[in-house]
This record gives sequence, structure tokens and C-alpha cells, in this order.
Amino acid sequence: MKNKIIVTGGCGYIGSHTVIELLENNYDVVILDDLSNSTEDTLDRILKITGTKPTFVNVDLKDETATKAIFQKHKDAKAVINFAAHKAVGESVKEPLMYYRNNLYSLINVLSSQIENNIEGFIFSSSATVYGTPETLPITEKDETQRPFSPYGNTKKIAEEIIDDVIKSNSNLQSISLRYFNPIGAHESGLIGELPSGIPNNLMPYITQTAAGIREKLMVYGNDYPTKDGTPIRDYIHVVDLAKAHVLAVERILKKEQDEAFEVFNLGTGNGFSVLDVINSFEKVTNSKLNYEIVERRPGDVPKLYAATNLAKEKLGWSADKSLDEMIKSSWDWEQKFRKQNTN
Ligand code: UD1
Repeated sequence: MKNKIIVTGGCGYIGSHTVIELLENNYDVVILDDLSNSTEDTLDRILKITGTKPTFVNVDLKDETATKAIFQKHKDAKAVINFAAHKAVGESVKEPLMYYRNNLYSLINVLSSQIENNIEGFIFSSSATVYGTPETLPITEKDETQRPFSPYGNTKKIAEEIIDDVIKSNSNLQSISLRYFNPIGAHESGLIGELPSGIPNNLMPYITQTAAGIREKLMVYGNDYPTKDGTPIRDYIHVVDLAKAHVLAVERILKKEQDEAFEVFNLGTGNGFSVLDVINSFEKVTNSKLNYEIVERRPGDVPKLYAATNLAKEKLGWSADKSLDEMIKSSWDWEQKFRKQNTN
């Protein structure tokens, strides 16, 4: 018998890559997604890659009755991986209630539905944004979290607090929160990758869309930060490496290897690269020049953020193995293959 895992937001960028890793590791997958920022044809792409089409339910997880009914139907599931959330930082500043409502109602409904059905494992898709502006680097899981700049980021921080409270009140729930640094890249098949709706907020899709001629030029937000070249430093991580960590987190819970009922792990490479490093690597890998301009800082950007990775290595047996060039090449391959598939 295969172990069944419920994946909310499984049609999205990180969700779909994780579904592939789960299927390839012999899990049964049920995807719950409202397709608000993804499309159903992801399921056919997953089928092409893995030979399996996961069970799919189109559901709005803000709807408590509908969520409970689905969990009742899949109460034989062993764990839930919760990706479903809105994630655009700028939009969250303009529409905070939409973000709190969507990201937190769905979390509450999922947690209460799984507790009702004795599904023990809960893996949460968190973000390095919970560290705010760190005082020391690399940042460890033991370092204090801070109120993030954006409502989006705050939903991640509040969500971790909700999970912590629920765990303390319920001895059966076992949870792992995975704090992602900056996920980029795409599956090697070129069939799935990041598909930002509208104008991208994040650096990598903005670069690839600029190089593809969809955007005129990349704006580099500030070169007067206290870093080696003045541009902010981040820890970019390949989405497939990230996806693999979720499978290890599921295994850790199912094998009852946790030290505590609620654990938190950073998912990064531990290497910091500046915006100009990323641009230089892109130009080298693609043998082209990128049109960009240095402009004002973007509000809320921190100068430097990169992960301490030893806890994930020691406890999950996980580390990222893709280089910056490989990550960038895979983002670019995806951009080109995707445009080709959609212009034919
Ligand atoms: C952002 C969010 C973070 C979220 C993460 C994942 C903020 C403050 N943080 O992280 O909460 O979890 O995305 O989606 O928004 N840059 C440019 N030009 C661009 C875009 C980005 O110069 O057009 C620079 C930024 O200033 C930053 C770096 O590139 O220094 C990375 O930006 P981005 O990809 O948006 O990620 P974060 O800001 O680190």
C-alpha cells in the first residue's frame, strides 16, 4: 500500500515540483487547488513526466464545509503538505485582508479538517521572510523571527505561530515548517516551471522575461546597499532541490524521527549571491547581454539574507547540490520551452 499525501496548491510552482518528487518516491498524491494562480494542464504535464496523473480536486480551502468533506473522503492520508497561498508581496501590501483571509482561513480549515480525521503529518510552506532584517548571518532556525515587512510575509509568520499553538493543544499533530530562501529554476523536462501571472515581482522570472523580449528592461532596485557590489544578497535555491526536501520531511514525520512535534528547517544553499552576480551568471550562461538599469531601492528589501544549512543537513539528510549557473540555465530553458509550447 502506498502512503497517501494531500498536497494543497499542488498545481503551483513549488507544489507541482514536489508532487513529481512524491510520485517518483512511490507516494499516492491528492492535489487540492483552486487554480487561482495555476492551470489544470499541470496535471497532464505531471503525467508526462511521471507516468501518473494525481487525483485532483478543485476546491477553495476558505470553504470550511467543502474542505471538511474532502478530508473526510481522504482520511486515509498520512500527511498534508500545505502550499496553497497567495504570494505576491506588492499585492499583499495593497490588499492585506485578501491575504490574511486567503492564507490563514485556508490554513485553519486544513488543520481542523486533518485533526478531525486523525491525519498526523503537516508540512508547511514557509519563507525566510519570517526573519525580517537579520542581525547576524548566516541565519539559523534558532534566530529570532521578526514581523515581516509585508502582509504576505506576516501570513507566514502568523501561520507558524498558529501551527505551534495547535501542536501544543493536540498531541497527535506532527509538523515541519520549511523556510524557503529564494526558489528559482525549473524541472529538467522543461514541462513545468514558474509561471507568474502578470508582471513578475521576483528577480529570476523578470530576468528571463526581459531576455525573452516580454519586458523591456530589468530594474535593479538599488546599488547602495552595504554589500560587495552594492546590490542585495540572497540565497537562490533550485526548486527541484527544494521539492526533494519535502519528501524527506514527509519521511521524517512518518518514521517518527522528529525531536519535537513542531520542527523548523531552513531550505537554502548557504551561498549568498548579489543581484549583479545573478545578472552576470545569466549573461555568461546564455551568452547574451541583459538590458537593465539601476534604479531606487524597493521598499522592504533587506540587504543580505542567506541560510545556515546544517540543521536541514543533519536532521533531514538534505542539502542542495545545484550551482547558481545550473539554476539560471534551468530557468532560462523553461522560459524558452514554455514560450515555444505556447506559440505553436
Ligand atoms: C521576495 C519577498 C519574500 C518572498 C520571496 C519569494 C520581498 C521583500 N520579499 O523575496 O517575502 O518570500 O520573494 O517569492 O518582496 N530585484 C530587482 N529587480 C526586480 C526584482 C527583484 O533588482 O525586478 C532584486 C530585489 O531587490 C532583491 C533580489 O532581486 O534584492 C531578489 O528579489 P526577489 O526575487 O523579489 O526576492 P526577495 O525580495 O528576496
